[in-house]
Amino acid sequence: MNPMLNIAIRAARRAGNIIAKGYERPESIETANKRPNDYVTNIDKAAEEAVIEIIRKSYPDHTIIGEESGALEGENKNVQWIIDPLDGTTNFVKSFPHFAVSIAIRENGRTEVGVVYDPIRNELFTAVRGEGAKLNDTRLRVENRRDLDGAILATGFPFKAKQHMPAHLNIIGALIEDAADFRRSGSAALDLAYVAANRVDGYFEIGLKPWDSAAGDLLVREAGGIVTDFSGGHNYLKSGNIVAASPRVAKAILTKIQPHLTDTLKN
Ligand code: IPD
Ligand code: CA
Ligand code: CA
Ligand code: CA
Repeated sequence: MNPMLNIAIRAARRAGNIIAKGYERPESIETANKRPNDYVTNIDKAAEEAVIEIIRKSYPDHTIIGEESGALEGENKNVQWIIDPLDGTTNFVKSFPHFAVSIAIRENGRTEVGVVYDPIRNELFTAVRGEGAKLNDTRLRVENRRDLDGAILATGFPFKAKQHMPAHLNIIGALIEDAADFRRSGSAALDLAYVAANRVDGYFEIGLKPWDSAAGDLLVREAGGIVTDFSGGHNYLKSGNIVAASPRVAKAILTKIQPHLTDTLKN
């Protein structure tokens, strides 16, 4: 097995155990408001520390970017680990059992490894560039749907950037003309993993951070799906505006999105 994948899996499982234990004992969770409606708990921080400790033991010189710690520059700036220790904190705080650990490894600007781990269901999603994507030991392949007809789509509301809410609602309105229904799961990493696993047929969201999407992005692409920004380009890790689906559904989503884009959402 790819040695970095091995370490990423070990780190994701360790963080997952911390999250699952914290979830069973909700009284041990402190919540602090970073911004309105944006929570962080002691478990987010403990999970991130555990991930960083495991990476540091094997790769002391790699650069690590974590949601809670920011950028920890290593001597080796070519290899970056991008960590979301707990994706879905609002769910976690509400005891809504849907959240994950997300770890991506980028080398020279290209994502090589992606791991998304759901500790509640013990589901481990992994991808290595050029080697495919898996859910536990089963290979993932996105279904080749023709169009949006009958599709179940996922999204997340831009609750941290409400200036984008009108555009978001317009886009949902346009998509639901053809699609069957929407899901809002509360974990972007799992939304992407679920596109790879055909549990939803497509996904879009405004304003994600790299740690939300870097691992899930590789999962979708290695399962044969497409990931783009809102103009069909590759700027989504920077802009945070993302579309993911099988090739023809992604194209159909992009066509529906275009008329509703404000200037700041055009990539
Ligand atoms: C959030 C989740 C959510 C998405 C937000 C993210 P967090 O991550 O992925 O689904 O809609 O934009 O910030 O803060 O729970 O790690
Ligand atoms: Ca957060
Ligand atoms: Ca996140
Ligand atoms: Ca998080």
